[in-house]
Formats: sequence, structure tokens, C-alpha cells
Amino acid sequence: MTFERKHLKNIKNYQPGKPIEEVKRDLGLRQVIKLASNESPFPPSKATRKALIENICRVNRYPDSQGYYLKRKLAANLKVKPGNIILGNGSDELIVLALRAFVDPGQEVIVGNPTFLIYEIQAKACGLRVVRSRLKDFRYDLDDIKRKITKKTKLIFIANPDNPNGTYLKHEEIQSFLKAIPRKVIVFFDEAYCEFSPEDFPKSINFLKQGYNMIFTRTFSKVFGLAGLRIGYGIAKPELIRSLDKVREPFNVNSLAQAAACSCLNQKNQARQTVRYINKEKYFFYEGLGNLNLRFVKSATNFILVDLGRISSKAVFSRLLKKGIIVREMSSWGFKNFIRVTVGTHSQNRRFLKALSLSLNH
Ligand SMILES: Cc1ncc(COP(=O)(O)O)c(C=O)c1O
Repeated sequence: MTFERKHLKNIKNYQPGKPIEEVKRDLGLRQVIKLASNESPFPPSKATRKALIENICRVNRYPDSQGYYLKRKLAANLKVKPGNIILGNGSDELIVLALRAFVDPGQEVIVGNPTFLIYEIQAKACGLRVVRSRLKDFRYDLDDIKRKITKKTKLIFIANPDNPNGTYLKHEEIQSFLKAIPRKVIVFFDEAYCEFSPEDFPKSINFLKQGYNMIFTRTFSKVFGLAGLRIGYGIAKPELIRSLDKVREPFNVNSLAQAAACSCLNQKNQARQTVRYINKEKYFFYEGLGNLNLRFVKSATNFILVDLGRISSKAVFSRLLKKGIIVREMSSWGFKNFIRVTVGTHSQNRRFLKALSLSLNH
């Protein structure tokens, strides 16, 4: 007998990157580095740690349900109104809220294939029909997405830049896509990695100001280094934000996360430095991978998808794990011979490239 709802039957659980402590415990290792979940390799700054400590004594109270200070800061930065913003328990939560707020049973959701797995998992968990659009040369194929739109389509998810491919769509491409699709369709642009992208990355605020039915989400988990606190945000026209707010739990973003995020926004220089560091290290990676004769997808993010040729990603993953390095093996995405590796500190990246070389010539 099963108690589970019918539509959960075909959902495969999301497998996150292995936690460092688990690998230490399981393999009896002392030094483990994690390059598996596209986190920042740097701990929060002194100022952010101070903001956290100052707020610890207030955790007997519920957090501010409206995130007043953080929304005002974000709004000022983005030159929008606080009413254009919703906060989420990570940007992940906003994916679920969008599905719950906008898609009726019987309507369809379009997702890329392969892309960030949460869109499909959560759409299925809501009992919705998922239509997949195959990526072309590791990039979203917007013409294919247009062809897949039917009368039933309600929501389209686009990760830009994409995970796990690391590629991005440019401003002009998105502009003509938005012009071409029916107004009743909402497009959800997941911009978790936008800070790492080049100049011609879309200025999504412009699309918002043109009145399109779109939501774009960003996060404090990547460049700002707050992955463990779970905080992200979405930007859309107030009408869409009000609908998202109806399905949001009142205290979805905890008070420490709100305080830390406010503090991060006071230190934009720090974020710029992190981006510069990671983007420089990416070239160190490219060079190292080239020296190993490995192909990779050039990335607009803080991670790289690496083609291992004929070598199985599962084998390389476990050899690296035994050497204390956690990466992501990509078979769940249908890439049996690929790993995805997050750019870390210079010494972590050096250690990874050395270990990878040994793991290939095993
Ligand atoms: C494309 C994409 N969107 C969203 C997320 C989730 O981010 P958050 O930590 O804000 O929930 C990730 C995390 O890896 C991601 O890769």
C-alpha cells in the first residue's frame, strides 16, 4: 500500500552535492574540498559575521515577514520599487511559489533539457505536465521553446546562465523571444549566476519596465557566499508579486538571512572582488583542462562542465572522492561522461587539477 499521491510516483529525488562532513565521516579523510554545489569558496566577510552575531539575540522573535529593510535596499540597488520584489528561502523557493501561484492543473510548464533539475521535479510534484526543450550545443534553443508553446502553456523556466551547462543567452536573444511569445505565458528567468556573466548578459530590469509577464530571480548563495542561510529574491511587476505572496509562507526567510543579506549589499566591492577572482581562476582551469586534453564548455558562471571523453564520470567522481575532492558527476542530467566542477580558491583548483590528472590515468 502506498500513501503517496499518484503524481509523485515518477519523481526522482534531487541529489545535492555531497556535504564535506559526510565524506570525511564515510572515507575517514581529514582534508576534504567541495567543488560540487557552485558555492563561494570564501566565508562571509567580517562585517557580515558581525551583523549575524548582532542578530542572534533576536531569534526569539519571528522574522520580518515583509523583509522591509532588505527589500528597500534591493529596490534602491535595482532601481525598482519594493513592491517589485519577493524574498525567498533561497531562490529555489521562488520556483515552487511560481508553480503554485500561476499554473492550473491541466496547464503545461516548459523546461530545458538538460538544465537545473528543480524546475521539472517541482512541476511534477505539483501534478503538472512538463514539456522538455532540448538544448542545442549546450545552450537553450529559444526557437524550439517557441515551437513547444501550446494553448496550455503557462510557465517557461529558463536558467540564464544555465546550470549545468554554464552558457548564457544574450540581451537581444531574450528581447526577441519575449516579443514573440503569447502574453498569457509567464517566463521565469533564473539568474542565480548572473554576477559572473559578461557585459552582453540581459539587463532584465529593462524587460520588466517594458511590461512583460516575467519573473527573474537572483540569490545570495553564490557570489555573496550565504548558501547555508538560504536567501534569494525575485523581481516582477507588482501584480505578479502579489500572487506569489499569496502562496508564500509568512516567515519563509529567517532573520539571520535577512540581516546577512543586508550587510552583503553594503559591501558591493567585496562581491566584485569575488567575481574577479573566480573569473580569473576560471582561466587557470581552462588552461589546466586543456593541458589534460579535456574538452569543456566555456562558462559564464562559477563552474565548468568537463567532458571526460570516453571515461565514465562515475569512476572519476569516486577516484576524486577518495582523494578528498567532491565534484558533481553528471549522469542524472544524462551526461554519462561529464563532471561539473565549481571554481574554488587557487590552491583548491590546483589540487583538483592534479587529482584529476591522476584519476584519468588510473
Ligand atoms: C540555476 C540555479 N538556480 C537556483 C539555484 C538555487 O539557488 P538558491 O541557493 O538561491 O536556492 C541553483 C543552485 O545551485 C542553481 O544552480
